[in-house]
Amino acid sequence: MSTAISPTAYNYKVVRQFAIMTVVWGILGMGLGVFIASQLVWPQLNLDLPWTSFGRLRPLHTNLVIFAFGGCALFGTSYYVVQRTCQTRLISDSMAAFTFWGWQAVIVGALITLPMGYTTTKEYAELEWPLAILLAIVWVTYGLVFFGTIVKRKTKHIYVGNWFYGAFIVVTAMLHIVNHISLPVSLFKSYSAYAGATDAMIQWWYGHNAVGFFLTTGFLGMMYYFVPKQAERPIYSYRLSIVHFWALITLYIWAGPHHLHYTALPDWAQSLGMVMSIILLAPSWGGMINGMMTLSGAWHKLRTDPILRFLVVSLAFYGMSTFEGPMMAIKTVNSLSHYTDWTIGHVHAGALGWVAMISIGAVYHMIPRLYGRAQMHSVGLINAHFWLATIGTVLYIASMWVNGITQGLMWRAINDDGTLTYSFVEALQASHPGYIVRALGGAFFASGMLLMAYNVFRTVRAANPVEADEAAKIVVVGAH
Ligand code: HEM
Ligand code: HEM
Repeated sequence: MSTAISPTAYNYKVVRQFAIMTVVWGILGMGLGVFIASQLVWPQLNLDLPWTSFGRLRPLHTNLVIFAFGGCALFGTSYYVVQRTCQTRLISDSMAAFTFWGWQAVIVGALITLPMGYTTTKEYAELEWPLAILLAIVWVTYGLVFFGTIVKRKTKHIYVGNWFYGAFIVVTAMLHIVNHISLPVSLFKSYSAYAGATDAMIQWWYGHNAVGFFLTTGFLGMMYYFVPKQAERPIYSYRLSIVHFWALITLYIWAGPHHLHYTALPDWAQSLGMVMSIILLAPSWGGMINGMMTLSGAWHKLRTDPILRFLVVSLAFYGMSTFEGPMMAIKTVNSLSHYTDWTIGHVHAGALGWVAMISIGAVYHMIPRLYGRAQMHSVGLINAHFWLATIGTVLYIASMWVNGITQGLMWRAINDDGTLTYSFVEALQASHPGYIVRALGGAFFASGMLLMAYNVFRTVRAANPVEADEAAKIVVVGAH
């Protein structure tokens, strides 16, 4: 086996841009999360202004954390992984740059229009049609760059991480385009092409698969590259990863109706969604086990490597939330959990514990390599960040479990004469301590992001442009 250095280099510029913006949007999106969590503790923070009211800032939070923070992490890592595993440069620098600037433009559009109250009212698909069209164009370009790079790869096979990224890109395009088909009536108002229960079904087919493909499949692509790399071990089972891939993508797409239990949706569709959700436990855990077992023989590294800790703990939260989800999809359980904070706790077990933790681990892994440094400026700060993130997540989800079950039980409690035992306000009062703990947990998590920003800043500032260029050279191992 020989090693050759190709005269061309990877396009690390776009990866660096997305990696830095992951941190920036993470701070803004999570900071906003802490703000809206505080509004639920102290309603005065709504400031009596429409633009700063909970109703308008909540969708801004979800857009910033999912699409800005999560999206930049996915774009950045996928461009990094596809180049390194295909041992080739992205097919087009200008198209890659367009995806970066186009994506930032969509987010800035969200930052302006959502507080102004422009919204389609569909959750996670709130952006009005001009922004939705821009997003679709950026996304299709992303697909061209990603798959074009795969086509011109120098390696024989396509690494499994790219399969997950690829499915995430294709399905997200399909979901976004189908769910956004609408009739514009003015520059900032459109009406959905679907009506009634059909509209709800399409929306939650979209919504659930936004979770399944955006918040799960893409991040599994990340997991399949960064866990083995950071642990310096091959993936536990390549065969399991293939079974995992096909099982996950064929099952996820059917589970959407669990968001519409006890609604006007036909009963059979609800039951189908429930059954598919329960079956989904198997591939989800298959993937988690594959990631965890990759550490066989490398567990001792967890003692000294906080980046690996981020990656492994994210898998633990992934396992937890994908156990909880199928349980909540059971109709009788959902009759208790739906509308309560239990759902919010489940969301953030996945969002903070899984999505944010794995992204943070991946960015810490990439930054020194992107800037030609041996390691991050401070390993101690990464460790402090790890504990802030873990404690923050636990405080968040534990308080929401207590709140959710309290709310569900109080709402359904009935006296002998058939009247309600508790008024809504009583259940709200019982939730107040939980809201304080949640805001505190969020503040822990968000302050960890500030440590990350400082650490990244110091690492980048110490970078030497020549070393950074050297780091981007394509090293072909096993070249003939
Ligand atoms: C510091 C961290 C965070 C805090 C304090 C926070 C706080 C909140 C709050 C207060 C809500 C509204 C809950 C309600 O309506 O009762 C919310 C909703 C939501 N957040 Fe976060 N959040 C954080 C991070 C994140 C991250 C990183 C993600 C995704 C990657 C995320 C995704 C969501 C989603 C999807 C919802 C809507 C949930 C639903 O409708 O069921 N959050 N968040
Ligand atoms: C096998 C995997 C999973 C299943 C079967 C599942 C199932 C569920 C169920 C039953 C609900 C409650 C629906 C309702 O009562 O309205 C829900 C909500 C949600 N889940 Fe999961 N879940 C899974 C994994 C995840 C993961 C890993 C994440 C995040 C990364 C996540 C994010 C969400 C979000 C954002 C919502 C709230 C949607 C909304 O109402 O706005 N789920 N999930």
